[in-house]
Amino acid sequence: MPAPNANLSALLSANKKHITPALGHLHDHIIVKGEGAKVWDEEDKEYIDFTAGIGVTNLGHSHPAVTAAVINQVQQVQHVQCSIAYSVPYLQLVENLLPIMPDKSLDTFFFWNSGAEAIEFAIKMTKRSTQRPNIICMQGGYHGRTYAASSITRSKTIYTLGSHTMGGVYATPFPYWHSLGVSPDTPEEELVAMAKTQLELLIKQQVAPSDVAAIFCEPVIGEGGYVPAPASWLRFLREFTTKHGMLLVIDEVQTGFGRTGKMWYSEHVEGFVPDVITFAKGLANGFPLSGIASRREIMEKQEPGTIGGTYAGNPVACAAAVAVTEVFKTQPILENVNARSAQLFETLNALKASPKTGNLIADVRGKGLMVAIEFRTDDELTLKGSTGPVPKDIGKRVQKKIIDQGIFVLTTSCFDTMRFIPPLVITEEEMATACKAITTAVEEVAREG
Ligand SMILES: Cc1ncc(COP(=O)(O)O)c(C=O)c1O
Repeated sequence: MPAPNANLSALLSANKKHITPALGHLHDHIIVKGEGAKVWDEEDKEYIDFTAGIGVTNLGHSHPAVTAAVINQVQQVQHVQCSIAYSVPYLQLVENLLPIMPDKSLDTFFFWNSGAEAIEFAIKMTKRSTQRPNIICMQGGYHGRTYAASSITRSKTIYTLGSHTMGGVYATPFPYWHSLGVSPDTPEEELVAMAKTQLELLIKQQVAPSDVAAIFCEPVIGEGGYVPAPASWLRFLREFTTKHGMLLVIDEVQTGFGRTGKMWYSEHVEGFVPDVITFAKGLANGFPLSGIASRREIMEKQEPGTIGGTYAGNPVACAAAVAVTEVFKTQPILENVNARSAQLFETLNALKASPKTGNLIADVRGKGLMVAIEFRTDDELTLKGSTGPVPKDIGKRVQKKIIDQGIFVLTTSCFDTMRFIPPLVITEEEMATACKAITTAVEEVAREG
């Protein structure tokens, strides 16, 4: 563990005022070390990282296999620009990904640096392949902060505030009760039926289906509140897009690499095969790398030169990703996700069922280790089932109390939602510590009112 370092505190206070205020910080400190599910700051304070760097360090911070692969690659060659030549890890990554893709038809790849860039290419590629100009996205969906990616993002207006967005984008409700204006206990099949009706209306009233290149959908709405897609919704999107000659892009940037208890969320829905999937985050466990996979025939419609990038598919990042895929082959990562997920859900469901805290909670949801608790606010929908007045700003207050107990935790969405997204290797003991901290925090807020 690092010793407290006064020089680092001075470094922080002298320089942070020169960093754009457009960037917020959860923890106003420097992280100097990370190991497994834990991180340490410059004051030597230890935290369990329930953010995993926003769903990135799936194998835990500084996983030894990733570290070794990166050191080895740094000593071989650090930069091979992807349109100049191939690198060994780039090709090894393709070789390792092929057998683990949700379907063998997804056999052609391009690697970029960030999730948003993978989305940019997916937008460009689907329009180019279909020769159609428009995109349909999900209300509540998040795909990144670059120009086209933020234009198809509908989780919060802050992502496009004051900036011009790309045209030709239509949003349709995801089967989430908020998007449909119904109560949290509405049965899944009713939500899906309502969402289907809205999509059918959209192609009758707003944009002709023959003018739509693709539908983009996160299989678990992420920044928009951690809402898993019912299997029937994904199946419907598959049939709908096929029927209308559109492509179906499933954005697994956050859900991929074991986050929901299978390698891909798409695998939870038997027989479900998207046309394109985008991925990033857990792929390289912290190194900047993203990917897009599709069928050869779709990728072939892009002329050489359509895509590229100075750092795209950097060999060091690819080496990290190769190590990640090897760890998944040999370690029981998915088993741990499912066991720790059950532990976390038990705590959250108990809080919802408890007469002490239940009134604060509108919904507990998620899949694997992508889990959320939505608190009640004073709006009509979330108040349904409430047994009394609801305190204000529950999420922010609970968050502060959890962080004070040594657990980093994030809120998300425009509703009062807290998300839990720890490294997939979190131990039973660490999860128990976090569950205790969550319970204490929610109980305290309930008591304080
Ligand atoms: C589903 C999804 N797509 C795209 C992105 C954008 O990825 P990046 O932040 O790497 O650009 C994110 C990031 O949170 C995401 O969750």
